[in-house]
Amino acid sequence: MKRLPERTETTRLLLRQLTPADEPAMGASLRDSADHISPWLPWMANEPISRADRRELMSTWEQEWRDGGDAIFGIFLEDEHIGNVGLHRRGPTDSLEIGYWLHAGHTGRGYMTEAGSAMTTLAFTQPGIERVAIHHDRANAASGAVPRRLGFILAREVTKPIDAPGEEGVEYQWEVSRDAWAARAAAT
Ligand SMILES: CC(C)(COP(=O)(O)OP(=O)(O)OC[C@H]1O[C@@H](n2cnc3c(N)ncnc32)[C@H](O)[C@@H]1OP(=O)(O)O)[C@@H](O)C(=O)NCCC(=O)NCCS
Repeated sequence: MKRLPERTETTRLLLRQLTPADEPAMGASLRDSADHISPWLPWMANEPISRADRRELMSTWEQEWRDGGDAIFGIFLEDEHIGNVGLHRRGPTDSLEIGYWLHAGHTGRGYMTEAGSAMTTLAFTQPGIERVAIHHDRANAASGAVPRRLGFILAREVTKPIDAPGEEGVEYQWEVSRDAWAARAAAT
């Protein structure tokens, strides 16, 4: 697998691979946003974790990215950490899936739509990637609005186990193809 780029910039944001040095900022964002994020992200059940454990986790993410695996980017507004967005190799080999969360104080301004757009463009720089996916529980309307705004297509609904307290157990799977994304870029 080819290593994903380390960073990308958008009009308002810097998206870059996180390292253990980002632990204080990311830990603070999570603490501030726990009530907002916990209904939807299963791993929040393990929070709070110690600073040492979070540094260790972030070191694992950095190594995974170096080895050509998933990339978990911090989203930075000027120098402030305001969320994470990841590119994950979870599905078919020709597909990358975007995952995300935003600091509770930075929603409603289009930052995740902007970050999601940049990550989709980045995903299609990878040879062999023909589709980018976003999956979310049906009850998570704010999450679903992101792919809708980006022009993704709702490809399927899948019944799945409930992993987080806000979920209904129906996963919406959105996708955009390489050709559709290129056509959208050409039209804007
Ligand atoms: C999912 C999540 C990232 C969406 O955040 P969000 O703030 O709604 O999304 P965006 O940052 O793209 O902002 C979109 C909102 O900003 C508004 N907006 C303002 N300026 C905008 C701009 N320039 N471009 C796009 N939207 C803009 C939109 O109208 C929209 O507002 P609305 O919710 O009133 O319709 C956030 O709710 C979250 O972190 N949830 C918890 C974690 C989670 O569910 N993760 C996904 C698991 S599958």
